[in-house]
Amino acid sequence: MCGIVGYIGNKSAQGVLVSGLKRLEYRGYDSAGIATLGPRGAATVLRTKGKVQELVDLVTTHEKSDMIGIGHTRWATHGAPSKRNAHPHVAGNIHLVHNGIIENYQDLKVMLARHDYDFRSDTDTEVLAALIDYVARDADSLIDAVRSACEMVVGAYGIAVLDTRSPDEIVVARKGSPLVLGVGNGEVFIASDASALLGYTKQVIYLQDEELAICRTSGVELSDMASSTLEPTVETLEMDLEAVQKKGYDHFLLKEIHDQPDTVEATLRGRINPTVHTARLGGINMTAEELRDVRHIMIVGCGTAYYAGMLAKYYIEQLLGDVMVSVEVASELRYRSFAVQEGTVALIVSQSGETADTLACLMELKRRGVRTLGVVNAVGSTIAREVDGGVYVHVGAEISVASTKAFTSQVVAMILFALTAADARGMSPERRSELIDELELLPSEIEKVLAAHEKEVKAVAKNYMQYDHALYVGRDTLMPVALEGALKLKEVSYIHAEGYPAGELKHGPISLIDDRFFEVFYLLDNWLYEKSQSNLIEMNARGAHAIVVTDTARKVEAETVLRVSTKLDLLRPLVFNIISQLLAYYLAVQRDTDVDQPRNLAKSVTVE
Ligand code: F6R
Repeated sequence: MCGIVGYIGNKSAQGVLVSGLKRLEYRGYDSAGIATLGPRGAATVLRTKGKVQELVDLVTTHEKSDMIGIGHTRWATHGAPSKRNAHPHVAGNIHLVHNGIIENYQDLKVMLARHDYDFRSDTDTEVLAALIDYVARDADSLIDAVRSACEMVVGAYGIAVLDTRSPDEIVVARKGSPLVLGVGNGEVFIASDASALLGYTKQVIYLQDEELAICRTSGVELSDMASSTLEPTVETLEMDLEAVQKKGYDHFLLKEIHDQPDTVEATLRGRINPTVHTARLGGINMTAEELRDVRHIMIVGCGTAYYAGMLAKYYIEQLLGDVMVSVEVASELRYRSFAVQEGTVALIVSQSGETADTLACLMELKRRGVRTLGVVNAVGSTIAREVDGGVYVHVGAEISVASTKAFTSQVVAMILFALTAADARGMSPERRSELIDELELLPSEIEKVLAAHEKEVKAVAKNYMQYDHALYVGRDTLMPVALEGALKLKEVSYIHAEGYPAGELKHGPISLIDDRFFEVFYLLDNWLYEKSQSNLIEMNARGAHAIVVTDTARKVEAETVLRVSTKLDLLRPLVFNIISQLLAYYLAVQRDTDVDQPRNLAKSVTVE
């Protein structure tokens, strides 16, 4: 979603800002802008509807040696994508970039119009800029003005503010929308996402909710809403520059699919003991007794994280037979009047750790006294900080908007949690050993599947690129794989795709089958083979253009059969899902879409 950058130091601010914005492009945006100040406060504001590259072109014709500035990539909420609505917004002396939503902006706008403020955009952000400018009339300093304005707004914000009267400082504030400050030698970098700081500094300060900071060349002054000074905690960023580069791949999506042998290994590192068949999770902060008392595991997430939860549910149920497992879409759960029982543990699943709906559920569950554990990738993110404990999935930066490596590792992390609980509950090692052995094998099996099938899937994609509709089906553990496969396809290739449990076909979706559709049918040669096979026969009888992804050596009737051979048994769904990821990728390439930044999508959905 929207991205913020800021800089004060001895370099050209325009250069630092546009390179930071380029790093944030992956989050999804529709317009971009920067504002810089000269030594006497002369402002240069450059904005564009479109890509950051257009901003780069503007900078070459409006080059300034200014050493302080702020920048933004906007993902439209209030008002259409346009230059007029792009940030930074200007009101009087104030220049402002903002992530989040000001819910009471209409009331504030009416009040400010009475004080002669005119508004040129449709945004809530311009109202906030005017509000800061208005309260600055009676404030002693920019930070006091920002603090007073923040007290008057309802909503969420991460903001960076310039005042032309004080061209040696940037004031930042956060409530519900992340901001991180990078501390260099005589310079401070500001970003909504740490990846924008890579290559400049690894020393970072994560701003907490309701904190503000003044950034100057002399350093950072941190304070809270009550004006008390706070001691900043400087942390070292674990990410490195390599993680945000394509490493020779055409797209981040393909690179991240290929990252998976390594990222699964990273998720497992130090967490399993293959000799005694146990898993150990350092960060869950639960005693063996507390793990024994678990009666209900509630998994909460959105999109791909939700589907990871759906798949993990099968494994958790197999391991912890007496524990109820429910999987919830966060945007629904947050408004439901659901009951929680004694012994509930909530697994909050999120790659970014910033998804607004997931975060809202987390806060509600905490309010109700439920123990919450994060299954999060982004270190230091809001969800990671708010949960009672958790498991970092450690897949590194996921740049492509479509999530791939995070999905696989989220499932692995939830299996590790179930194994840890199974051990605490005294379950026999035999029950755990098969899964532990398979987890150990998973990285190399993913590698083999990629090596054996990538060319084949690419060729299949060529044969199916003309279809505009797809139906993905599977049973049991392959049902969530079908749903996730359909999601991946629609988001990156824009082919309309639906995912269904195979057993549901006869209850409606089979009527869709015609020559405009192709079908992806996942078929495991297990105890459900005959039943799944009959679903396939029913589809074929209606003229299906089916691609069957299967592990069977038996004869399969279908237009295309992709036979996946692997040593895995229980974890086969995870390697079948790799085939889905490749298929979505190559179909998107065939259809020439913006693979890494599909239209209308944002990487981290920080608004409802
Ligand atoms: C799909 C995708 C989204 C995210 C969802 C949750 O490829 O990326 O569906 O999975 O927006 O995001 P996180 O995991 O960051 O909470």
